[in-house]
Amino acid sequence: MRRLLPVPSAPAEPDVDLVEAYAYPPGRTWLRANMVAGLDGAAQAPDGLSAGLSSPADKRIFGVLRGLADVVVVGAATVRKEGYRPPKPKPAYAAARAAAGQPPAPVIAVVSRGLAIDFTAPLFTEAVTPTIVITCEEAAPHGLAAAREYGDLLVAGRDRVDLASALDALAARGLTRQLTEGGPHVLAQIAACGRLDELCLTVSPLLTAGPADRILAGPALPDGLSMRPVSVLEEDGSLFTRYVRA
Ligand SMILES: NC(=O)c1ccc[n+]([C@@H]2O[C@H](COP(=O)([O-])OP(=O)(O)OC[C@H]3O[C@@H](n4cnc5c(N)ncnc54)[C@H](OP(=O)(O)O)[C@@H]3O)[C@@H](O)[C@H]2O)c1
Repeated sequence: MRRLLPVPSAPAEPDVDLVEAYAYPPGRTWLRANMVAGLDGAAQAPDGLSAGLSSPADKRIFGVLRGLADVVVVGAATVRKEGYRPPKPKPAYAAARAAAGQPPAPVIAVVSRGLAIDFTAPLFTEAVTPTIVITCEEAAPHGLAAAREYGDLLVAGRDRVDLASALDALAARGLTRQLTEGGPHVLAQIAACGRLDELCLTVSPLLTAGPADRILAGPALPDGLSMRPVSVLEEDGSLFTRYVRA
């Protein structure tokens, strides 16, 4: 993996230390999104999943970002389509996580109103820290009961989840190093409520056309959200960009 931006001071810079490069800013709540898109902006490969846009280097960064996070916020559609499993503790992060007072692996927090979620799946039965279910007051009662029984229920909002309140509630539990893996509908709401501090966007060198979403799917942000690039890495033709809120 080589660094393109900031421009390296020496032509033969040593391989990038990803843990250092993606360290969370200390002492504050910080939410970053990790997404991948094709060259023409597709957030899904033609099969409807994101794996076809990924690469070994993208998977490494995906692992590093999870290894640094307290919580991974993700929409229920992504959980269902991508078959989410609980993050496993990784020896590479064990010491740093223990020193930072973090459990061995981040906790997944699933956003859902319908709660049509398989609560008997490994995401709930094998999680090191019980998977959080973020829902709203008007969610189906039987779903609420199941979420309470098999997960860790967090209610934020009346008829739909209020993402800002939910993220505040996670921070109040000490989960301040926040990561979202989308999908596009959840990410658009996080951006709209002003909570997107950083975007880690992999640009895959693949053109796909077709009906895929962009990485944000939702109503237009009236004034746009200006982001400032802070770094660009490259491996095997994929670009690993990092933008923070301008
Ligand atoms: N390119 C990438 O980096 C990337 C990343 C992630 C996913 N993806 C792809 O994107 C697709 C899935 O993403 P998506 O945008 O369609 O869906 P999503 O954002 O993953 O999930 C949408 C679901 O989340 C719940 N939800 C969202 N906002 C809510 C709110 N305010 N209140 C209550 N519930 C809420 C609802 O779940 P219920 O229906 O359960 O109520 C809704 O159907 C898949 O094809 C996946 O492969 C791509």
